[in-house]
Amino acid sequence: MGIERTFSIIKPDATRRNLTGKINAMFEDGGLRIVAQKRIRMTREQAETFYGVHKERAFFNDLVEFMTSGPVVVQVLEGENAILRNREIMGATNPANADEGTVRATYGESVEANSVHGSDAPETAAEEIAFFFAGSEITG
Ligand code: PPS
Repeated sequence: MGIERTFSIIKPDATRRNLTGKINAMFEDGGLRIVAQKRIRMTREQAETFYGVHKERAFFNDLVEFMTSGPVVVQVLEGENAILRNREIMGATNPANADEGTVRATYGESVEANSVHGSDAPETAAEEIAFFFAGSEITG
């Protein structure tokens, strides 16, 4: 427990539909603070490295193609128990299984185009934050 930071991505399906502000409002209304944020176009190399843990999965190439298909917003979210809190706000990976009122139930289109990514544990949060942000870019 306590104040934590987690890493978040607003994915290309959501930036394409101009949903960044609406999704950010869901994070903020849910008790998280956006302490770093930038809109980028992920390179293939970045996407392959970031999702490297999934490289043996059948969907790996589709996932990399999708994540490089348009702009994404990479973010650091801070708050009480932020990793779990963000996962609650996002909902289940597959929007079909996500609870009503979550980001993925509200905006997700498919298990691939599911609008947001969030870290799943403290170690991955630290790694994912450091992959996209310098310490000087994060300000609480
Ligand atoms: S895991 O490791 O089993 O828990 O993986 P999972 O949470 O199911 O999914 C990991 C990420 O892969 C994306 N995904 C897919 N992309 C494309 N096609 C298919 N079929 C597919 N299935 C899962 C899913 O959106 C997850 O992305 P992130 O960014 O990690 O949320």
